[in-house]
Amino acid sequence: MSTMRSITVPTDASRLPMTLPRMAEKKRLGEPLVMVTAYDYPSALAVDKAGVDLVLVGDSGAMTVLGYPSTVAVELDELLVLAKAVRRGLTMPFLIGDLPFGSYEVSDEQAVTTAFRFVKEAGCDAVKLEGGGPVSVARARAIVQAGIPVMGHVGLTPQTSTALGGYRAQGRTAEAARRVADEAMALQEAGCFSIVFEAIPSAVAEAVMPRMDALVIGIGAGPATDGQVLVFHDLLGIREGRGARFVQRYADILDEMVAGVTAYAGDVRSRRYPSPDHGYSIPDEELAAFRHALGEQ
Ligand code: KIV
Repeated sequence: MSTMRSITVPTDASRLPMTLPRMAEKKRLGEPLVMVTAYDYPSALAVDKAGVDLVLVGDSGAMTVLGYPSTVAVELDELLVLAKAVRRGLTMPFLIGDLPFGSYEVSDEQAVTTAFRFVKEAGCDAVKLEGGGPVSVARARAIVQAGIPVMGHVGLTPQTSTALGGYRAQGRTAEAARRVADEAMALQEAGCFSIVFEAIPSAVAEAVMPRMDALVIGIGAGPATDGQVLVFHDLLGIREGRGARFVQRYADILDEMVAGVTAYAGDVRSRRYPSPDHGYSIPDEELAAFRHALGEQ
């Protein structure tokens, strides 16, 4: 007789902290997992209130909040500052820290040391690394063996986009699709609890899914994956331009921000702001005493 018990998910399951067993149960039940990036305290509060399952402090923050032209330049210490702020704003979702380019490739020791910093200093539940070649697979295995859950990332991997020929979809020939599938399976075999499939044909993702026990989170990989991830600034329109083909925009916050600050600037320049209602009062006798102290008669 099997000793395995299925997890009973209470009615108010959405308000329980997300855990690896709960995510595995969602996969088993075919319930899509919702993942989004966040980079600071207010974005963390927003995604927490919205009830998402997983939050990634992505190295995409290099571009969305730090203004770098790509994800390559961002330093580990910079991402740790963002991750700590996100941690302070989250209660329920599972938090993943993205290992920045150059912080894990050199050796297993470097990868494990970096991963420990995300867990110990920023309170992350897991880390993510990019690529499914031999180096990334070895680093993923080392971090998992050190006791930290790892999310892999195959397909379009922005940290190495120069080597991939730019920001373009991957796996669009039989050979390239086979490479993506092999990388995903190697990461799974190394112990990754989850793998991101980025910018690969939907049919390729669908064909690989039956071989994936790990949770597959898609971004531009079609509907067959176990969940979806989008960048916070892309889905809310806190950036210029439409972004990649797979981005669905749910708000136009940048326009709202510009409109709000423009209105404020107009009110200051025309002296409509501040109004008397925005000021503080002082009793007449206190004001008189103060004026007297200033030497006024
Ligand atoms: O850095 C990031 O935001 C990511 C997601 C797009 C998966 O890697």
